[in-house]
Amino acid sequence: MPLNRRTLIAASLSITFALAPLTSVFAASPAPAKGEHGMVVTAQHLASEVGIDVLKKGGNAVDAAVAVGYALAVVYPNAGNIGGGGFMTIRFKDGKSTFLDFRERAPLAATKTMYLDKDGNPVKGASLDGYLAVGVPGSVAGLEMAREKYGKLSRQDLMAPAIGYARDGFILNQGDAASFAGSADRLAKDPAAAAIFLKPDGKPYGIGERLVQPDLAASLAAISEKGTDAFYKGAIADAIVKAGGAKGGILAKPDFEQYAVRELKPVTCTYRGYEITSSPPPSSGGVIICEILNVLEGYPLSYLGAGSADTVHVMVEAMRYAYVDRNSALGDPDFVDNPVSKLLDKAYARDIRDKIDPFRAGVSQDLMPKGFGESKETTHYSIIDDEGNAVAVTYTLNGSFGAGVVADGTGILLNNEMDDFTQKPGVPNLYGLVQGEANAIQPKKTPLSSMSPTVVAKDGKPFMVIGSPGGSRIITITLEAIVNVIDHGMNIQEAIDAPRIHHQWLPDKVYVEPFGLSPDTEKLLAGMGYHLDLADQTWGQAAGILVGGKSLAEIEKGGGARYNGAIDSRAASGEALGY
Ligand code: DON
Repeated sequence: MPLNRRTLIAASLSITFALAPLTSVFAASPAPAKGEHGMVVTAQHLASEVGIDVLKKGGNAVDAAVAVGYALAVVYPNAGNIGGGGFMTIRFKDGKSTFLDFRERAPLAATKTMYLDKDGNPVKGASLDGYLAVGVPGSVAGLEMAREKYGKLSRQDLMAPAIGYARDGFILNQGDAASFAGSADRLAKDPAAAAIFLKPDGKPYGIGERLVQPDLAASLAAISEKGTDAFYKGAIADAIVKAGGAKGGILAKPDFEQYAVRELKPVTCTYRGYEITSSPPPSSGGVIICEILNVLEGYPLSYLGAGSADTVHVMVEAMRYAYVDRNSALGDPDFVDNPVSKLLDKAYARDIRDKIDPFRAGVSQDLMPKGFGESKETTHYSIIDDEGNAVAVTYTLNGSFGAGVVADGTGILLNNEMDDFTQKPGVPNLYGLVQGEANAIQPKKTPLSSMSPTVVAKDGKPFMVIGSPGGSRIITITLEAIVNVIDHGMNIQEAIDAPRIHHQWLPDKVYVEPFGLSPDTEKLLAGMGYHLDLADQTWGQAAGILVGGKSLAEIEKGGGARYNGAIDSRAASGEALGY
């Protein structure tokens, strides 16, 4: 079989574009949700309802995204937040696009070696647990900027549902309860967090029980009434600074006063005629998705088939090369000169393809750049409105329930985003990422992210809205959903549900979801030199929308619903809602 692989790939290159996808899909997925006027897909069903209600009331997709952002902070507190940060990619109905960076910034008192002991070794947990792990939160400033610049409805209207769920509580379903149960030990360590998220007997809230968050309701009500100043200049910032000061943190009032959202130009590229719009630095997401897609464009993936050894081989090699660039070259654009145009160049992708051996696995150590010393929760939601405005938001506390701390009286869980920085070149972070100097800690710097809120367009019209949580795997999750739709002909739900693979340069392993590859495919890949890590758990919770039909085939026939939404079957509490 290896004998003819090179000729097969070469020959098929010339005919691939004429071929309809040849693959069938192994997984049986539920049908995507349908809508003619709007679609909201989030990881928590109540938040999806909040978003749909805003659209029905005449709000646009940005309004819905703002209301959903606040609602998730209440009903999905492991990742939804006002104590963290994130990114919003907007593609407007006229085809223009923008990107809001409301990710956390390092405190002014942060230093490059703040997580190292006197011998220069990382102190276990220091960048993950407690106040020292907290970056200056950006969610409130980001959501409010989005609403003011691009929304139509009032802050009070958009925040009311979140305030209601915090004040009156909401009933936990199985998915909600599971997320609390998984983090109970961690939440128990902070009395203020335990008082909110654990029952008086110290147990987590279970299925059918009501979680009420009065302090969070009061914080949200203050923001609703007074705007961002209530968070950044008033009692909330004071409470966080005070609690942090007493418990080993370094956040100070000027950190909050100086916080500013950045509005940036999204990263764009093309893939087989589709236009991708995604996250620029300080996220690596858009750049690395585009770099991988540029490499893959030269291979006939549709012909090679979903889940085949040949497809996995070229995908893994493209990922390997792109993650070296991610981990060594990218960082906050205010501090680092990111080589974005080089990484997005189709000629650079061709050079990478030339280096990929068609028969053998590459070796990550061979790609080590010169001079390189180098679960968790996030949530993604996708929204589209009747006018065709598309919004993709990924925001996070980083780890599940962030740093696991709540400043007394605020009800606000704080992030542990500082762990996304390079603590020491060469030492892996929470997601196993081995990173370099470009992502070293500096005051006011934003840690490099993988979050990839993405909108794909075709012929000037929105085609797909997509993104996911998953730490360093966000990039490959998002990429695989796009490839599954465009190359493998899957419908949006199948594309999201299909088993995933992942490679991130180091460690030099191909991670494979349970039942992701057949045993004979695994043998073929092992024979090529791959080290497979057959995971016992799935990863990611993608949320996607496809426009014009549930799959390319249906779009081409012209017979589909206008909006087709899919929440990952891995997301127990999520829902895609259309109207
Ligand atoms: O920004 C990032 O890349 C990470 N902080 C995202 C964390 C994440 O996705 C956790 N969820 N599984």
